[in-house]
Amino acid sequence: MSRPTGIEKLLHHKEVVICAGSGGVGKTTAAAAIAAGLAARGRTAAVLTIDPARRLASALGLPELAGEERRVPPERLEAAGLGGSGELWAMMLDAKRTFDELVETHAADEQTRDAVLANPIYRELSNAVAGSQEYMAMEKLHQLHQEGRYDVLVLDTPPTRNALDFLDAPRRLARFVDSRSLAFFRGSGRAGLGLVGRGTGLLFSVMKRATGVDLLQDLGSFFHAFGDMAEGFGERARRVESLLADSRTTFVLVSSPRAAAIEEAKFFHRKLEEEGLPFGGMIVNRVREPIRAATGERLDSELGGLLEPRLARRVARTVSEHRALAERDERSLAQLRQRLPRKPAIVVPELPGDVHDLAGLEAVGRHLFADAAIRR
Ligand SMILES: Nc1ncnc2c1ncn2[C@@H]1O[C@H](COP(=O)(O)OP(=O)(O)O)[C@@H](O)[C@H]1O
Ligand SMILES: [Mg+2]
Repeated sequence: MSRPTGIEKLLHHKEVVICAGSGGVGKTTAAAAIAAGLAARGRTAAVLTIDPARRLASALGLPELAGEERRVPPERLEAAGLGGSGELWAMMLDAKRTFDELVETHAADEQTRDAVLANPIYRELSNAVAGSQEYMAMEKLHQLHQEGRYDVLVLDTPPTRNALDFLDAPRRLARFVDSRSLAFFRGSGRAGLGLVGRGTGLLFSVMKRATGVDLLQDLGSFFHAFGDMAEGFGERARRVESLLADSRTTFVLVSSPRAAAIEEAKFFHRKLEEEGLPFGGMIVNRVREPIRAATGERLDSELGGLLEPRLARRVARTVSEHRALAERDERSLAQLRQRLPRKPAIVVPELPGDVHDLAGLEAVGRHLFADAAIRR
């Protein structure tokens, strides 16, 4: 194996890499680019993605529905400049399919929709359902790690408001499993609708008529399937937690170069420390790079020589706007490095287009794995 470069240094001897961060910062992109880069460097890597854009999913050869791991054909990797002696596998974790979406699509009107969404039973359930998806992701991670077929598993995390919300999923779910409402619904799932109290049955049937959503039936089958998993749940939740805390695991925070990201990085770091979880470093994604062009009057006269005056003025304005943004990113980045001086921060610039294919992952990977990526 060649000498590790860039992010590879952080991932040396790591078997589980968890990409966390708030929504839209590039977690899915980073997770896929890390796995692809490690595969190109000789490792058998699997990326477990949560919500890949359709084009990225198809570039990875993933079907619409969650399922099992698929190997990305070596010739496709080769064509994108990601060829190597390793293997890239990808798997889609449970597609985000919350009950909210169900209600939103099926509710007869806005009033009904809001009434259902505000219903306390519904709220408790949908929280548990959302938590369970996150929990399932970690359960799957644990299972694959146990099977030992991959050198490294890279986990994408769900789009949460807060970078670490998903860590609470096992606990949230455990609380719910112990609560009375679950016993109630599991009862109804197993024994049919007959056991449900009359008043509740009526509530659900009114809701069904009003909204078209057969909540009870959906819940019944969900908890029926869920029922067996709930046994021994505490034990498995503990094993998942200990995998997360293992020295073979590392958390990577993906963040934007905005000022708020600094607060987030600090919070993330502190929270990991509190939980005794290993923090690997940060990826600061979509950093706007300074334009190498003249400034002020020089720029005006250079553009004036090339373009007609109105266009020249517009281009000059765009250049200076971009320059201001790039300077802002540079300042936040400097602050970030100052606040967490001992934590590596790898910069990935804003690329000219969306990253939705293997060539895009290769482009992102070039920055992640660049020899100079980690400045200490
Ligand atoms: N460095 C980058 N340059 C340009 N576009 C990017 C970059 N990183 C990510 N993107 C794009 O940003 C969008 C969000 O990225 P994604 O990885 O899906 O974020 P997340 O998983 O955190 O929600 C996608 O359309 C992706 O193609
Ligand atoms: Mg994502």
